[in-house]
Amino acid sequence: MARKKITIVGAGNVGAHTALWVATKELGDVVLLDVVEGVPQGKSLDLMEASPIECFDSNVRGTNDYKDTAGSDVVIITAGIPRKPGMSRSDLINTNVGILKSVVENVVRYSPDAHLLIVTNPLDVMVYAAWKLSGIAPNKIMGLSGALDGSRMRSFIGMELGVSMQDVHAMVIGGHADEMVPLKRYATVSGIPVTQLIPPDRLSAIMERTKKAGGEIVGLLKTGSAYYAPSAAVAEMCEAIIKDKKRVMPCAAYLDGQYGVEGMFIGVPVVVGAGGAERILEIELDKDEKAAFMNSVSAVKTLIADLNINK
Ligand code: LAC
Repeated sequence: MARKKITIVGAGNVGAHTALWVATKELGDVVLLDVVEGVPQGKSLDLMEASPIECFDSNVRGTNDYKDTAGSDVVIITAGIPRKPGMSRSDLINTNVGILKSVVENVVRYSPDAHLLIVTNPLDVMVYAAWKLSGIAPNKIMGLSGALDGSRMRSFIGMELGVSMQDVHAMVIGGHADEMVPLKRYATVSGIPVTQLIPPDRLSAIMERTKKAGGEIVGLLKTGSAYYAPSAAVAEMCEAIIKDKKRVMPCAAYLDGQYGVEGMFIGVPVVVGAGGAERILEIELDKDEKAAFMNSVSAVKTLIADLNINK
């Protein structure tokens, strides 16, 4: 069986760590691309030199030339500037849409059949822009949101209860922004609703912490934003596509009337497999959850309305 090919655009912290997870999981051969000369080559070589220790046979190659990305099965786009303390993800919009434009043009030219996974912020808007700029089928574009936000919520629940992270599940929907919607009713520990295990005030605190979790890391790091959890989460999405796993994960996916939303991407539970976003699962939301979700939809819509991708 021919190996799959996975391109990662952006060799910063998120991109380089994504390369690490993808290579160690042996999802395929990896091309790490960046505009900065030497950096993707150096990080790739460094990673190859770890392969005898970690026993992986994925080839990892660094490049500045999109020609080397030709024929990729999955392209993960991390390129863009990260937040500084005090910034919201939406403050990055103009700079990052400019970067995304040239990235998407080049990616699609060399890999017209690839799935695109977007990590660049502000997430849901960048996924929309990538879709518009690429012209590819909406099921083949997804953004990293709930896979990361849900993992953060799971980690907070696991730490609170002192139980194995493996047994904790949580669902976070909506935009990858402060308006995201952690769903406490759908969080469980081995099937036990967390509402039975954690008192309401502590659970509310965990939900609030989840919403601001990206900002918490930005505040601590002072320069740059989170990268271990974001890279692990996008590698998990990539794995679901490459191995056709039919994972059920919250991702920024295209809505075509589901949840009463049409023509935009936002975080919802998705069946992820070889067909990309194969199916949107419409879960039952109570009045407050629905209101919070629609509030998040409005926030993303406002940003999309400001987007001039033809500039
Ligand atoms: C975060 C960035 C990746 O949430 O959006 O850390």
